[in-house]
Amino acid sequence: MVKDFIRISTSLPLKGSCEISGAKNAVLVIMASSILASGKTTLRNIPVSSDVLTMIELLEYLGAEVFFDQEENRLEIDSSTIVQSEVCPDIMSRMRASFLVMGPLLARFGRAHIALPGGCSLGKRPIDYHLKNFKKMGVTVEEESHFITATCQQLQARRLVLEYPSVGATENIIMAAVLTSGVTEIVNASLEPEVDDLISVLRKMGANITTQVPATIIIEGVESLNSVEYSVMPDRLEAGSLLLAAAITGGEISIPNAQPHIMDVFLLKLEEMGHTVVVSDNGKGIFFKATTAPKAVSFKTGPFPGFPTDLQAPMMVAQTLAEGTSIIEETVFENRLLHIQELRKMGAQIEQIGTKAIVTGVPHLVGASVVATDIRAACGLVLAGLVAHGKTEMTGVAHFDRGYDRLTQKLVQLGGKVERFSSEVLGSSSKHIEKFV
Ligand code: UD1
Repeated sequence: MVKDFIRISTSLPLKGSCEISGAKNAVLVIMASSILASGKTTLRNIPVSSDVLTMIELLEYLGAEVFFDQEENRLEIDSSTIVQSEVCPDIMSRMRASFLVMGPLLARFGRAHIALPGGCSLGKRPIDYHLKNFKKMGVTVEEESHFITATCQQLQARRLVLEYPSVGATENIIMAAVLTSGVTEIVNASLEPEVDDLISVLRKMGANITTQVPATIIIEGVESLNSVEYSVMPDRLEAGSLLLAAAITGGEISIPNAQPHIMDVFLLKLEEMGHTVVVSDNGKGIFFKATTAPKAVSFKTGPFPGFPTDLQAPMMVAQTLAEGTSIIEETVFENRLLHIQELRKMGAQIEQIGTKAIVTGVPHLVGASVVATDIRAACGLVLAGLVAHGKTEMTGVAHFDRGYDRLTQKLVQLGGKVERFSSEVLGSSSKHIEKFV
């Protein structure tokens, strides 16, 4: 059996400039939305991550013709050839975002037969908000063992209220509603920037979507949507991770294509730690310089514009080395603190009380063998390895690969010591497959 691992060694302060890739969380849903278009959708700035490859597989399974130029980060999807509305369990189980095809399939075929979605283990991850609201739109939902069959004669435009601003449910309902005659309203909708990016591409296709204060999305159905070319937004989560890598190594970096206006609370917390964050005059791009004496800050995750749950694990790493005590509360997912036990192996002092982590800064971390349990925990552990004394080896690399496009290379480019290995678990020899990936 071949097992991949990433080895991270103590690195000098990160320095230099680095562009970030397209946002994984925007790309996946925009790829799903291509099912709604009449012809070929061309998407640019597409990250090469395994979740994107899984979504390609899913679209091809449905019958779409897909071409992915990985050098150019350009993706072409011709969904006019889609002939069926069923997705096999193997593909569905690999990521939760696979469930985002349900809305577009219902809009196009009035039917979707799909297995329950998989994804990171972050506690219970129900899909009840999606299903409840599809039912209100006139969809009959049958659940049998691990499959869901959703059917409708004609989707009905309705005023829908979400009890929590779920990102996926908002996106799925928007995609179901764009071709539904009448006006659909989503009250207490998610306002994450990635939802906004979906709305932008749909508007470009010809959809009629507006937003209203405080958090209502209004969709007036149109007859059909056109094929478009669209460049996906840069990944704010990758930007945040690189800034944190610079913060914990005491570095100085710039990210010319970061979008600071969608990272406000996160950047505020970095400044409260004592770091210097400078936004370019044109509002685009971030220059960052770490303080030599970072102070601990407390924070609580929440829906946008709050602190993103996807940056909680990497930000926790920064707190393990800061002066003082930080209280971190995870409010979005019920079980997204599994990285605590891995960070403890590296010498971090963290107490967990329910969904809260109390982190007391220590002078240094030590390298250890750690296991990544989800995409963002994987990123946090790689960052911890950059500053730990000695070597850190992280398994569970598949989680890392799901979320990031060549992030290890970007860290190496900035001076990080990160290598990738593949070892024959049953053999005596370890085979080095690449210097870094
Ligand atoms: C998306 C992101 C993920 C991010 C999360 C929160 C993608 C591909 N993934 O996930 O990276 O961490 O938003 O910003 O975009 N919930 C229910 N019932 C539902 C749906 C959600 O109870 O039907 C709960 C979830 O269990 C969770 C909370 O609502 O506790 C938020 O989930 P949601 O916003 O839907 O996240 P995802 O769309 O799955």
